[in-house]
Amino acid sequence: MLTGSIKKVCCIGAGYVGGPSMAVFADNCKNIQFTVVDINKDRISAWNDDDFKKLPIFEPGLDQIIARTRGKNLFFSTEIKKSISEADMIFLSVNTPIKISGLGAGKASDLKFIEASARLVAEEARGFTIVVEKSTLPVKTAETIKSILFSSQTIKNDIQIDRKFSVLSNPEFLAEGTAINDLENPDRVLIGGDDDDSIEALSSIYENWIQKDKIIKTNLWSSELSKLAANAFLAQRISSINSMSAFCEVTGANINEVSNAIGTDSRIGSKFLSSGPGFGGSCFKKDILNLVYLCSFYGLDEVSNYWEQVILLNDWQQKRISHLIIQNLFGTLAEKKIGILGFSFKANTNDTRQSPAIKICKDLLEEGAELSIYDPKVSMETINLELTNTSISQDESKFSNEKITVCESIDEVAVNADAIVLITDWPLFKNINWDTISKLMRKPSWVFDTRNCIDDVQCLKANINVWKLGVGILR
Ligand code: UDX
Ligand code: ADP
Repeated sequence: MLTGSIKKVCCIGAGYVGGPSMAVFADNCKNIQFTVVDINKDRISAWNDDDFKKLPIFEPGLDQIIARTRGKNLFFSTEIKKSISEADMIFLSVNTPIKISGLGAGKASDLKFIEASARLVAEEARGFTIVVEKSTLPVKTAETIKSILFSSQTIKNDIQIDRKFSVLSNPEFLAEGTAINDLENPDRVLIGGDDDDSIEALSSIYENWIQKDKIIKTNLWSSELSKLAANAFLAQRISSINSMSAFCEVTGANINEVSNAIGTDSRIGSKFLSSGPGFGGSCFKKDILNLVYLCSFYGLDEVSNYWEQVILLNDWQQKRISHLIIQNLFGTLAEKKIGILGFSFKANTNDTRQSPAIKICKDLLEEGAELSIYDPKVSMETINLELTNTSISQDESKFSNEKITVCESIDEVAVNADAIVLITDWPLFKNINWDTISKLMRKPSWVFDTRNCIDDVQCLKANINVWKLGVGILR
């Protein structure tokens, strides 16, 4: 295949990865047509909505790019077969959640969506098609995709079908909330494969806006493993700083000062050293669990145990925050109202997958608390589903909506609240007027700041008790 010969691209999966990625591709490659397809009709309708506030995902800057490209060289469609059959290149961007039953349950990735997409591609593709893994996948998934594609029938109803495939791995490193910048100015682009022409074809697309020396080319397995390893290293940093946050609280050290002091060592670096309520999001936990599962499968028990500890520390961090809240509120939350600020797993996204807010809220509900929750971008429906519906949260849920009020403002959260717990570091939470909030709360009032981002001096002046992660109770 000649470089520059890609004219039509299909992306299967219109989610947090597929949507923003194809939008940025389309914005930078005007002579290629990108079609993002999905089995979820509502999601596709939302991507096609004229009201950009109704796009299915919130990502700063995304609406402007969609406005520039949609209907020109970017399309969202449910015509999956048609789009596959016309495409020269197909990205697989479907979800790969953790398996909830069967072999590897709770650890291995569920590849049923990837497999279904690969089977459809095997059936519908025509001519030479480059299939690119975009979703985070366990190492060696390309093997599965290859075996499905390469065993596709080339003779159907006595008619010879011209069909050939090449498989590449091109993992996505975007972080939600900064996805557009991450896609426009990535630290690197990674392309793994064993067919040089296909690698060049994909590389030439990226070269429309990314410097050639930022494009790293490896074999398939190195590319797949590099994605898991990068996420594992990032998550490990968070568990490391979170372990220090607990240590700071008992020794009188301050986690911000410690982060700053160690981050100035150029060998360590200052990024990803903010302690918080534990990492959330769809990738970190899933990828490490995958690593743990695969290492143990290959008999590398010490390696497996090492990485599992990153997850255990993360779970512990969330548990210890809810315990601290309960302890400071005299050991019981019955008849108490707790305000929750932030429900998404991080600021600037409406994604709630694996959000620390879910576990913390469930612990507080378990203790009998009534919750009033405010998040600037997460819908009431999603919050209620995450806390009460088993199909989303994937564990047994026994909580009813009666104990949960989803609010429209910070003030509404504060009315008669005994405590406010700040879980997501949305910028607007940094400028709260604690004088006003204090007047709305029940006394004694508490604020538990799990992100170290409130104005604690003003909070204390307003006669509110303050607990800060990595510092403890302020006096
Ligand atoms: C991550 C990777 O960063 C990205 O490269 C990969 O493609 C997908 O997974 P994402 O999960 O979207 O991206 O967001 P990220 O910014 O990595 O944050 C993950 C979690 O870690 C969030 O819950 C965040 O609040 C938490 N975090 C991050 C911290 O607690 N402290 C930090 O210093 C950084
Ligand atoms: P990610 O964060 O990896 O993008 P999402 O869950 O946001 O994950 O998006 C994945 C999308 O893939 C969903 O919208 C889902 O409906 C879609 N999807 C899953 N399986 C298929 C399939 N076989 N064909 C088309 N779309 C699919």
